[in-house]
Amino acid sequence: MASTVLAIFALFIVSLFSQSAAIRSPKEGSICPTAVFTFADSLSDGGNRDIEAGGKTLSGMYPYGVTYGRPTGRYSDGLVIPDFLIQKLHLENLGIPSLEFNGTEFVSLNFGYAGATVIKVENQPFSSPHIFSAQVDDFVRHRSKVVGEYGREDSSPWYENALYMVEIGGDDINFGLPLGGGYVINVTIPAVIRGLADGIHNLYSHGARHVLLYNMPRADCSPNYLQSFQQFPEGMYHYDKDGCIVEIAQLISYFNSQLQALAAELTQEYPGLTVYYFDWFAANTYVLENMEEFGFTNSLQSCCGGGGKFNCDGDGLCGCAPLNHTDAVYTVCEHPSEYFTFDGIHYTEHFYNIMSDFILAGNYITPKVSLEKGCKVIV
Ligand SMILES: *[C@@H]1O[C@H](CO)[C@@H](O)[C@H](O)[C@H]1NC(C)=O
Ligand SMILES: *[C@@H]1O[C@H](CO)[C@@H](O)[C@H](O)[C@H]1NC(C)=O
Ligand SMILES: *[C@@H]1O[C@H](CO)[C@@H](O)[C@H](O)[C@H]1NC(C)=O
Repeated sequence: MASTVLAIFALFIVSLFSQSAAIRSPKEGSICPTAVFTFADSLSDGGNRDIEAGGKTLSGMYPYGVTYGRPTGRYSDGLVIPDFLIQKLHLENLGIPSLEFNGTEFVSLNFGYAGATVIKVENQPFSSPHIFSAQVDDFVRHRSKVVGEYGREDSSPWYENALYMVEIGGDDINFGLPLGGGYVINVTIPAVIRGLADGIHNLYSHGARHVLLYNMPRADCSPNYLQSFQQFPEGMYHYDKDGCIVEIAQLISYFNSQLQALAAELTQEYPGLTVYYFDWFAANTYVLENMEEFGFTNSLQSCCGGGGKFNCDGDGLCGCAPLNHTDAVYTVCEHPSEYFTFDGIHYTEHFYNIMSDFILAGNYITPKVSLEKGCKVIV
């Protein structure tokens, strides 16, 4: 009896192992991710920063998570892009923040932290020590635990067929801007590009073959920037037809052109590696210019805030305002899904959901690729 149970158990183990060794080949022009690993800042943080702070950050409190039903440590009214992607790829139900995970299973994990940069930033209250290279190190440690458990042969296909999302660098620009556009162009951007190159190389040497590099979205339209640029004399900066700051858009576009060149260079340099470039800026622009079609009514005001032109006035609790002003007066809009940003900096769940559809379909991605679902259960 016991031996039958043992034999069945052994069979089960064997079949698990043989499954992890055989990976379905995707169609031409698509990839079929076995997992999604995310390296990111607050736009994709799945809760790490809040877990690290013992649930004491803003994202662990109302009104964050208001659409989801409770705060989850995400800087949104609900979910963020990695969550939607892994749901739609039929991988996991929700993105798992790496700090929440202590097992050795083959799962998608989110290594992102709010405030994370590519280069180390000092004298910034909102920056995080979990910079890109540190997040990659966390991944490498996680991977070696899994490899230790299952063996290299069984683990390698899993990691080679995973999608590695790199959504980081925007905070380097945000934190650098007070030092001037010239400084950002001459100093910040080259350092960010080098840091991204090193980190992606490290991922490659630990098995990554499909990297999705996000560019920086339309921060030039964010209520937070619009609010703070009101301090400058009229005519000093310019605004486009959508109400966004032209000079900030130019700087972001320059940064993005460097990111695109980096993606192409790394793809050339490392055999078997493709760094897909997700033009988030262009995707964001498309939605901005066709906002009614997507159900948006408000692109330039924060859903949550303390009033004023951009609903970002100083005594609000949400992103535009001082973060430790806990007795502040703020209101939360009735329909977050009609707004681009939830707190003046970070987007709403509705916006992130639309972006995840673009990514799945391969829209705004170079080289063109689409994502196939259902590769966690390997056939
Ligand atoms: C691992 O995580 C689970 C669930 O989050 C928890 O119950 C368990 O105590 C953790 N184990 C260790 C060794 O930390
Ligand atoms: C940036 O570099 C350009 C060209 O080398 C130089 O003219 C400019 O002064 C630099 N700006 C700053 C802020 O370093
Ligand atoms: C929080 O508020 C206190 C008192 O108002 C202030 O001294 C401190 O600098 C604030 N901290 C941050 C991170 O803004």
